[in-house]
Amino acid sequence: MEKKRILVGISGGIAIYKACQLVSNLSKTHEVQVVMTSHAKEFMSPLTFETLTGRPVYSEMFGPGVDHSKVPHIDLAKWADLIVIVPATANFLAKMAHGLADDLMSSMMLAARSPVLVCPAMNTYMLAHEATQENIHILESRGIHVLNASSGLLACGDYGAGKLPEPGQIQDIIETLLIEEKDLAGLNVTITAGPTREALDPVRFISNYSSGKMGYALAQAALDRGARVRLISGPVSIDPPSGVELYPVESAQDMFEAVQNLLDDTDMLIKAAAVADYRPKVILDQKIKKSDDDLTLSLERNPDILAWAGEHKKDRTVLCGFAMETRNLLKNAQKKLESKHCDLLVANSLKEEGAGFGTDTNVATLLWPDREETLPMMSKKALAHKILDALVAIKEAK
Ligand code: PMT
Repeated sequence: MEKKRILVGISGGIAIYKACQLVSNLSKTHEVQVVMTSHAKEFMSPLTFETLTGRPVYSEMFGPGVDHSKVPHIDLAKWADLIVIVPATANFLAKMAHGLADDLMSSMMLAARSPVLVCPAMNTYMLAHEATQENIHILESRGIHVLNASSGLLACGDYGAGKLPEPGQIQDIIETLLIEEKDLAGLNVTITAGPTREALDPVRFISNYSSGKMGYALAQAALDRGARVRLISGPVSIDPPSGVELYPVESAQDMFEAVQNLLDDTDMLIKAAAVADYRPKVILDQKIKKSDDDLTLSLERNPDILAWAGEHKKDRTVLCGFAMETRNLLKNAQKKLESKHCDLLVANSLKEEGAGFGTDTNVATLLWPDREETLPMMSKKALAHKILDALVAIKEAK
């Protein structure tokens, strides 16, 4: 990616130590300018950031050392391709939400015209407080990107949401926001994600280990590239990207019906879900009671949603299937590509380290009808963009 100008605004919280790693990473490929609040300087010396970026840190509006022939808060806001506030304290979120401009950093935010990412980090009760939550909603409603804080043991000893996510995760989001090309603008992208659950009785089901991470990464990437995204998701424990239209489903039959309803209005269908091929023939009304005998389940085939979509899609619709295999990956994937009339198939093997269920990374081979490309291990987010690059090229050629 071409070098961009990233303005990192730092407010005063203990999570500053993670901002150092982020600034160091970003400085390797971008121009980075740091601005600190006066409270932030209580936690860390500007010298650290000056050394990491090779640029002076700005903090004060007035006083010795400030060049009053310039208007720093306006110049800084104009300079930036992207502004990241990390960590964003409850106080700084409140100032942004209500337009306070009583120091350099808050004044600069009022003049900002570039995309803004804020990364809240604070005590869990401060984060959950209605005032903070309302301020976050205000910022989101203005188009500001707010990164969800992660959960865990906090510096104050409380346990809960409020931790600053890892620098690598913040950097991934920054890189995505810096992609200016909205090559999916105006397109409807439908994505299936996660597992299906096939009920046996009111308390038990057959399912698989899909976490939804691959499908959700595709949804986020498609959103970032300007698409309208419909996400048909089996039960998962991760949050959907804000901005997607979510269609929660349980069984393969539910997923099938959702795909049937959306297919005509879909420009790209990406089937990352791990769908159960079989379901119990009978779903019992009451819990199955254990007995001394073995239990035999009778299963019947679920609809093959991808195959149905391959037969019923319009010519303009691009169809992308996945294949998850434990052996003969490419041979089986090639068969699926052809028999299900896919334009692209993403093959991943459960036997490969860093690939498949639950991981943040994947190792995949992309198969077109006339060629294939094996990709190195990368984050599911990076893979999502590779898949979308391929689908955009297929769409353009249709
Ligand atoms: O969710 P994660 O934890 O991030 O894991 C990601 C993943 C491993 C689930 C994902 O990368 C993946 O490989 N998804 C497809 C899993 C799968 O069901 O593969 P399959 O080879 O069994 O199915 C082939 C294709 O047919 C898939 O696109 C699947 O969605 C589709 N299918 C399968 C069965 C069925 N009845 N209907 C379908 O549409």
